[in-house]
Amino acid sequence: MEFSVKSGNPEKQRTACVVVGVFESRKLSQAGEQIDEVSEGYLSNLLRRGDLEGKMGQALLLHNVPNTLADRVLLVGCGKERDFTDKPYEKVIAKAISTLNETGSMEAVCFLSELNVKGRDTHWKIRHAVESTENTLYNFDEYKSKSEAPRRPVKKLIFNVTSRKDLSDGEQAIIEGIAISKGAHKARDLANAPPNILTPAYLAEQAKLLAIDNDKVDCQILDQATIKEMGMGAFIAVAQGSDNEGKLIVLNYKGADSDKKPIVLVGKGITFDSGGISLKPGDRMDEMKYDMGGAAGVFGAFVAVTEMSLKVNLIMVIAAAENMPSAKACRPGDIVTTLSGQTVEILNTDAEGRLVLCDALTYVERFDPAVVIDVATLTGACVIALGNQASGLLSNHNPLAHDLLNAGELSGDRAWRLPLWEEYQEQLQSNFADMSNLGGREAGTITAACFLSRYTKKYHWAHLDIAGTAWLSGKQKGSTGRPVPLLTQYILTQCE
Ligand code: BES
Ligand code: MN
Ligand code: ZN
Repeated sequence: MEFSVKSGNPEKQRTACVVVGVFESRKLSQAGEQIDEVSEGYLSNLLRRGDLEGKMGQALLLHNVPNTLADRVLLVGCGKERDFTDKPYEKVIAKAISTLNETGSMEAVCFLSELNVKGRDTHWKIRHAVESTENTLYNFDEYKSKSEAPRRPVKKLIFNVTSRKDLSDGEQAIIEGIAISKGAHKARDLANAPPNILTPAYLAEQAKLLAIDNDKVDCQILDQATIKEMGMGAFIAVAQGSDNEGKLIVLNYKGADSDKKPIVLVGKGITFDSGGISLKPGDRMDEMKYDMGGAAGVFGAFVAVTEMSLKVNLIMVIAAAENMPSAKACRPGDIVTTLSGQTVEILNTDAEGRLVLCDALTYVERFDPAVVIDVATLTGACVIALGNQASGLLSNHNPLAHDLLNAGELSGDRAWRLPLWEEYQEQLQSNFADMSNLGGREAGTITAACFLSRYTKKYHWAHLDIAGTAWLSGKQKGSTGRPVPLLTQYILTQCE
């Protein structure tokens, strides 16, 4: 897809389609008014006749509107003007794009980016229009024998801005929107891939490819033997049950001076979570292929950052393993020694995420990080608490937590903070080791983070539980690409 910005009049666009908004009830936007005027009331006549109310989700495609130069005019319903905020704006863009894609307009000039969105500037509107467009056009048909792509897809989109002085803002917004979309797209492709293909070794190969393509990026892969030798006993306990060996994947992007401390992202990369010996019930077990959603998210953010060549040092670490039951698998009751030296009694082999992460989190101390953010589909409890709207956020550093919450608001990829009070730590008490890997039914998301907090004392750390936000179930089953926008926004803001 090709994006650009311009500042012009709707009736003067020589293009396949001009896209304008209509609010409820039957209220033309400014661009709509302009077309209505030159066409001597053509649009207002249609509206008066009742062809379009302006409700959210409505669209009306018109041909040969008098005195305009475009082949078509697409009217898109925007709902009530005073309710026109972030999410409705994204929905309206999505509706416009899917309509264009299905009706053969390969190019369009879009005036929706001129609409007033409460509290948002041109930069925000253009960037989100790009993201919403790319999100709508995403299609995962690699494993279908026939492609489902439309015959004449949209190829070129031009967003209009009201004034010429907004053009350079718009252009910068397009660069960011494309980079974030590319990262989210990558995250979705990875997470949607089937677990027989997407193994820890496959993830490692993907990381190597990134490093080959970019000379500011180095890649290092630790194989299972090395992980064991180094003393990552918790990581090994999870990886040992599978024939697909575990990998610790490290990507290092040097975008700033070497004395600048890096931002470190750590992703849970369980390529399939059967639960291990504490086997999960069969219902919807296929969805546990998404248990590498944290890895996909940090990978996607890494792609977005390198795509923009941001002036930042960024390190991505993925703890990749498959959680399987087998004669070699760890059992409930096993006690292992982590890289930190602390011991863990494994009471439930299905609480495997924290086991691979705790060793990865100790491993990253060596990078002397500015901050460490781990991302994981860690607990079913988080899905119950926050649903699929917000990711769970827990942190040992208030400024970092606030920065991430703000990045969530700005990117539309929101998080919500939960407490990490000392009192919750008691739930991890073990009679036989320094701690157990199980906190009980109550406050499951918090006790999982409490477990991780015992391995992150040496730096500023935040944890994102994306169990509810990384993918959708049911008819729209698939990866969402979250939290790539949130992470990328956070890093963008750090670069300002
Ligand atoms: N990957 C799961 C968490 C999960 C469950 C994510 C459902 C998305 C949807 C994780 O490894 C897990 O099994 N967690 C257990 C922890 C429990 C055994 C302490 C859970 O949430 O039930
Ligand atoms: Mn599990
Ligand atoms: Zn898991």
